[in-house]
Amino acid sequence: MSVNKIIQENKDRFLNELLDLLRIPSVSADPKFKDEVFKAAEFVKNSLEKAGADVVEICETPGYPIVYGEKIIDPKLPTVLVYGHYDVQPADPYELWDSPPFEPVIKKTANHPEGAIFARGSADDKGQFYMHVKAFESMMAAGDLPCNVKFMIEGEEEVGSDNLEGFVLANKEKLKSDVILISDTHMISMQDPSITVGLRGLTYMEVEVTGPNRDLHSGTYGGAVANPINVLAKMIASLKDENEHITIPGFYDKVQELTAEQRSRLNEAPFDLEEYKAKLEVDEVHGEKGYTTIERVGIRPTLDVNGIWGGYIGEGAKTVLPSKAYAKISMRLVPDQDWKEIAKLFEDYFRSLAPKSVKVKVRSHHGGSPAVVSDTSVGYKAAEAAMEETFGKRPIPTREGGSIPIVALFQKELGSDPILFGFGLDTDALHSPNEHYGVQNYFIGIETIAAFFRHFRQMRQS
Ligand code: BES
Ligand code: ZN
Repeated sequence: MSVNKIIQENKDRFLNELLDLLRIPSVSADPKFKDEVFKAAEFVKNSLEKAGADVVEICETPGYPIVYGEKIIDPKLPTVLVYGHYDVQPADPYELWDSPPFEPVIKKTANHPEGAIFARGSADDKGQFYMHVKAFESMMAAGDLPCNVKFMIEGEEEVGSDNLEGFVLANKEKLKSDVILISDTHMISMQDPSITVGLRGLTYMEVEVTGPNRDLHSGTYGGAVANPINVLAKMIASLKDENEHITIPGFYDKVQELTAEQRSRLNEAPFDLEEYKAKLEVDEVHGEKGYTTIERVGIRPTLDVNGIWGGYIGEGAKTVLPSKAYAKISMRLVPDQDWKEIAKLFEDYFRSLAPKSVKVKVRSHHGGSPAVVSDTSVGYKAAEAAMEETFGKRPIPTREGGSIPIVALFQKELGSDPILFGFGLDTDALHSPNEHYGVQNYFIGIETIAAFFRHFRQMRQS
């Protein structure tokens, strides 16, 4: 039976198995879910074994394990390494979900007339990496696996992939491949398939500003002692100028500027600003002067406050001059910015902004490098041909604003081209309540991945 026939005949089972995986609340950020994260790793191991992998291992790390599996049919054939993550973001706030985040349901939406699976992790990344497991299973069942395949599915992507670097460095030989497939990104739309060729990096900081040594009566002391929340607000406000340009000295020094031609090519991607605003219910977009929305997200760095707190936030009013104020601040980075260097520049500048009346603590949480991948490699060409076959349209290369910190490490240490072969949509509500993944996206992804294996082998051998 052909690979596509097998996919068609097993649709219900392929879908139900994904729903089972989505029922496991594998939230890596919250220790409360520790057992569940391990359970998800077990689930991935069993799925790979059932699909036909010869070797499947749960590789322990100081954190959550990495599931490794492989099927080597002939060492002379090309090898595809698949990377994905079985951990998910916290589902909070639960009350904003229309259905419980770990009880998947299928519902129709405007973007998914054939139905979408609503659950935390459906698009990011369980629904996406599981397409690779099912494509592999289908190729095996058809007796038609064109390339060797290796899987590396981790459980700490959403918390910075702290233990993956060590694993990669210690297992370079084992992970050797000719191409790395990662499905953890978006396409423009079902009508406009695209392949991501750029991801931003990230530096994540936390700051603490302390005024007096204890909370004070805001009448007795207000106006005479620095209020750390007021001070923090002012310090944050001075991190950007009126053109939304970041004011940290040296911040832009290593930013690669694109040529006018590169920029105009980037802006040719289908994008409707009115629709974008309407979907977000904003009257106007906002960002760095001189750049389009596509550029602001794809090729420009930015700085955002993710959370800010301090003082009294309970019911009613309390007159207090608080002792402390806090904020979590992240910066998205572009080539060739270095996240550790940027963390240092931020810290120095942030400290310099503080008046003598407060004390400042700055700590760096985690970070990751930006990445740009080739759109001329054999892997890219095979991905392009596969998408053209299943979508009936040649995909366009795009740059996305999110981060997969490990991509740059793969490029450096494993030396094969990563292909960001995502099948989600930007409306899938990643990290938000009501995350969902189109049923059609899931199946077309499985078919496209199988087509990739065929094209990649042909192109490598010709
Ligand atoms: N799947 C995302 C990355 C992504 C999202 C790429 C949207 C392109 C478009 C990934 O799982 C993720 O969320 N990464 C984190 C990085 C991190 C270090 C926590 C991110 O981008 O915030
Ligand atoms: Zn994510």
